[in-house]
Amino acid sequence: MNIFQTIKARNKLIRAFKEGGIYKSIGNDERKIYPKIHQIPDDKYDYYVFTLPNGVDPKILKKKFYVFQQFFGKNIILDGEFKQFKLSVKNTTLIDKVNYDYQQIHQIIQREKIIIPIVCGMSEKGDLKIYDATNSPNLLIYGEPGSGKSSILHAILTTLIQCYKPNQIEFYLADFKMSELNLYEGVEHVKSVSYLDKEFGQALSHLRKELTIRGKLLKYYRVRHINKLQNDHKPPYIILCVDEFVMIRDENIMAELLQIASLGRAYGIYLILSVQRPSHKIISTDVRGLLSVRMGFRTVDRRNAMIGETPGSETIPKKGYEGTFFLKMDELEQLRSPYLDEDQTENLISKFKKDDWKNHNYKINSPVDRPGESKQKVLTEKDVFYDVDY
Ligand SMILES: Nc1ncnc2c1ncn2[C@@H]1O[C@H](COP(=O)(O)OP(=O)(O)OP(=O)(O)O)[C@@H](O)[C@H]1O
Ligand SMILES: [Mg+2]
Repeated sequence: MNIFQTIKARNKLIRAFKEGGIYKSIGNDERKIYPKIHQIPDDKYDYYVFTLPNGVDPKILKKKFYVFQQFFGKNIILDGEFKQFKLSVKNTTLIDKVNYDYQQIHQIIQREKIIIPIVCGMSEKGDLKIYDATNSPNLLIYGEPGSGKSSILHAILTTLIQCYKPNQIEFYLADFKMSELNLYEGVEHVKSVSYLDKEFGQALSHLRKELTIRGKLLKYYRVRHINKLQNDHKPPYIILCVDEFVMIRDENIMAELLQIASLGRAYGIYLILSVQRPSHKIISTDVRGLLSVRMGFRTVDRRNAMIGETPGSETIPKKGYEGTFFLKMDELEQLRSPYLDEDQTENLISKFKKDDWKNHNYKINSPVDRPGESKQKVLTEKDVFYDVDY
């Protein structure tokens, strides 16, 4: 932002103060003291910060809110109580509906050498954003009912299924609403689709065993990430995906899930959780760091958006903007996810379905080598666990 744009932005707010009568008059000549402006929108921030002169009734800001809207547009937000206020002026832009196009996605994955591609969506400028979960392993998706959470899950999962062979990636899915993820039953890459706490608990204990072995593998080969292992020792990547994870009633299961998440990065396990409302209880401080990537679809209010750290999510209008969200990674970016309905998803994944597929069909995958044994030998679960405490 250059100096002229800075002055222009500053003057615009002063004009709004003037038109709205938001100032303090002093002396016989009615000299006007306007609120003091501390921050104006620039390349980094999309809000103004100002303080009212002492003695000015803050209620005037509420009364004259329409003046700010006349100057800055409908979707502005004014936060503050007595003296200091923050006026967010970034308007949600309507990004046209984006169709899911695997060819295009595949090209980007290859060009950017992405290992675990997480499809996000189209930016205002028309770039399709796909990030690599290798660097940012755990994702939290939140938003009101109907805002587009399950749809983006379909785009993410369908892409990963098409990218990798079943011996390269595995999926453990949980769908406690019993409505969205059942269509993945039968896909060779999918090891389980859980609908109940109990079933999911079993999937997690299996993963726990797998983690223990992966830990040993890393230790034995003295590497810090499974990507560093040679191909014949490299276990498949694991995607653990839970739609509506607040419906997990069992606290032990929740704790186990988060523990797996905390180890995931090194062990090739990636977590995707979706929830309707981010609350402080769900995103406690320890979880905050773990679920470092957020997709904030439309939220009921500013508070919810702030808890998730995607301010602006509350400004996404209800109709016509489904699939629009704010992606929080290093910075905040507004995107619209590529839309895949159930029939399209079914069409894309049907060729990966097997007739003899069994749900909850677990098998330890990581090859375990011990000093003195053949490196090629893949041991059975029984072989492996005689010396493992858990
Ligand atoms: N990216 C998108 N582009 C256009 N429309 C979309 C997009 N994503 C979702 N929609 C529309 O919004 C509807 C609801 O989306 P979705 O089922 O993903 O919401 P949700 O957040 O999972 O809701 P719930 O919390 O009730 O499960 C879809 O049926 C579709 O019509
Ligand atoms: Mg849903």
